[in-house]
Amino acid sequence: MHTTTARLTAARIVPVIVIDDAARASDLAHALLAGGITSAEVTLRTPAGLDALAAMATVPGLTVGAGTVLTPEQVQRSADAGAAFIVSPGFDDDVVATTLDRGLAALPGIATATEAMRALRAGLTEVKFFPADRLGGLATIEALAAPLPQLRFMPSGGVGAHNAVEYLSSAAVFAVSGSWMVNRAAIAAGDHDTIRSASAAAIALLEA
Ligand code: 3PG
Repeated sequence: MHTTTARLTAARIVPVIVIDDAARASDLAHALLAGGITSAEVTLRTPAGLDALAAMATVPGLTVGAGTVLTPEQVQRSADAGAAFIVSPGFDDDVVATTLDRGLAALPGIATATEAMRALRAGLTEVKFFPADRLGGLATIEALAAPLPQLRFMPSGGVGAHNAVEYLSSAAVFAVSGSWMVNRAAIAAGDHDTIRSASAAAIALLEA
């Protein structure tokens, strides 16, 4: 396992951030840390994503990666901005190869056994499972893990307070990711109290 993936495994919960103003990024990072969150996936689906990633990657104690990475060029820009890991909604050979060339942890999305086999052939032992709820949730992860026990999954898509602990109870799941504690409107409004308390509530799920 890549050392960064080991850090995500220890973190257990990876917030998925959609940010519209990079000037909010540093305060957002500190709100997450204040709530006990130690990792963040900053998506490149907004124009501010890359600058926000760069700002958050400088904050000590936070393991920051790029999400919604679709091309090798985006991998390069994310690596240059300080990303420690690269997440994609699906599996792309060139994105994974570029990520590994840059020494970063690759977490491509997979949805089928065929894609899981491609990830294994690429040398990966951890993948994102997306969109987790629409694909049948934990039952589907465990069905995939039965013939492929060397692979572990980060479910994403529809994960929240109602099911995060159930996912994390499975040996096939190394972490969960989701946006439920990083409301996009709260980020845009600079409402860091809400983000800090939602982050603390998410972390409290792990301790319950
Ligand atoms: C995403 O790509 O947005 C993530 O999978 C997060 O999904 P969520 O918003 O359902 O948590």
